[in-house]
Amino acid sequence: MTPGRRWWAAALAVALLAGGCTGHDGRFRPGSADLGDPYVPGAGNGGYDVDHYALAVRYDPADDRLTGRATITATATAGLSRFHLDLAGLTVDRVRVDGAEAEHHRDGAELVVTPPRGLPAGKRFGVEVTYGGVPAPLPSGELGEGGFRATPDGAIALGQPESASTWFPVNDHPADKATYDIEVTVPDGLAALSNGVPQGRESRAGWTTWRWAEHAPMASYLTTLVIGNYRVTTGTHAGKPIVTAVAAGLPADGPAAASVARTGAVADYLASVFGPYPFDAYGGLVVADPGIRYALETQTRPVYGPGFFGRGRPDTEVVAHELAHQWFGDSVSLARWRDIWLNEGFATYAEWLWTAHDGGRAVADSFTAAYRGVDWTKPSVDPGRAALFGDAVYRRGALAVHALRRTVGDATFFRILRGWLAEHRDGTVTTADFIGYAERVAGRPLRPLLDAWLVGATAPALP
Ligand code: ARG
Ligand code: ZN
Repeated sequence: MTPGRRWWAAALAVALLAGGCTGHDGRFRPGSADLGDPYVPGAGNGGYDVDHYALAVRYDPADDRLTGRATITATATAGLSRFHLDLAGLTVDRVRVDGAEAEHHRDGAELVVTPPRGLPAGKRFGVEVTYGGVPAPLPSGELGEGGFRATPDGAIALGQPESASTWFPVNDHPADKATYDIEVTVPDGLAALSNGVPQGRESRAGWTTWRWAEHAPMASYLTTLVIGNYRVTTGTHAGKPIVTAVAAGLPADGPAAASVARTGAVADYLASVFGPYPFDAYGGLVVADPGIRYALETQTRPVYGPGFFGRGRPDTEVVAHELAHQWFGDSVSLARWRDIWLNEGFATYAEWLWTAHDGGRAVADSFTAAYRGVDWTKPSVDPGRAALFGDAVYRRGALAVHALRRTVGDATFFRILRGWLAEHRDGTVTTADFIGYAERVAGRPLRPLLDAWLVGATAPALP
């Protein structure tokens, strides 16, 4: 082939390929396979924004099998020839887009969907995925595993920064929050707990379906499923449903039960500081699985590992921490994981506030102890993936919050907190957003102060 002919052949090949990818129309391109957050490579997807997930799953602890149907309503943010969903493991049986059969294949933990026609930017579309298999947790390396894990009597789906993709197809990044309807079918006699407002349950032919609705936007890592033998308590608190549950293997009158029983009281105290409780339901779930070595602020219904309550007396500090996240993290969420101190720094500070309110150590003393103990060479902002849950994020973050309070005074400080939460309710934010907001309310520059407390390499002078 002459050089000239080679050029034409190459140009023709490119044109054919491009035509194949775009449906012969330049308006449509493939959506990206992640959202570009370096803390969670592969998580989230580009080109659309999910509005709602309607999930119907069935789980049988006898053989660990889950079958599911996910109906996802989304809006295209770009013209899409195909798009990705995150789904780890499991087998996809069929995918429909707006009712039409869609081509689909797997690429690692991605489900790639090619609808019969391109989706124009701005179009609202529906995706229905039917799938099933034996779910497995994600290997998260340095952060421990996250996701769906079978337990002796059921299962627990839980984990941060990722877990949802182990049990449903999802745009798995907090930057894309959505509302949820979740129904879970399990053998009669087992509980199936999840997020939000209970929608009742019904039994048929040996199986019971539990229905839940979370109609405030929720980040995918804040979804949970807790299936097994639980003592479930349902009631009303401040005019909203409250659902708590304690693993049947833990004593009915022990510290775990006593701690979650304080949920309403702790939430009311936090509302007196932060402003109105942001969601339509309350709750808390204590699991017995020793593999869950943390608590997580799953929306409306935090999950507590059994280790918090092993010392014989109730622990309301962890309850205050997870409930504070309902405001900081769940209602006002992270656009990027590098800013996780916005969640953990404030939740840790809320522990200090609650402890003082509850007759324990004064906030000033918690501050002093943390100030002496923290390693100033480690930054709160952009701590690195391995340090997402490190001291620099939690205690150093809380120190920065208190330093801000000392600098601007109590009245301005609490105005900043309440205004920030009200302004960004149901939204996603960054550290720069917070500093900008605090400066506007205080009417003075605060960036040098917060930089020193959050990322400076040496201990800042006390304000
Ligand atoms: N956000 C949770 C909390 O502060 C911590 C989750 C810890 N996760 C983990 N894999 N260690 O309460
Ligand atoms: Zn936390």
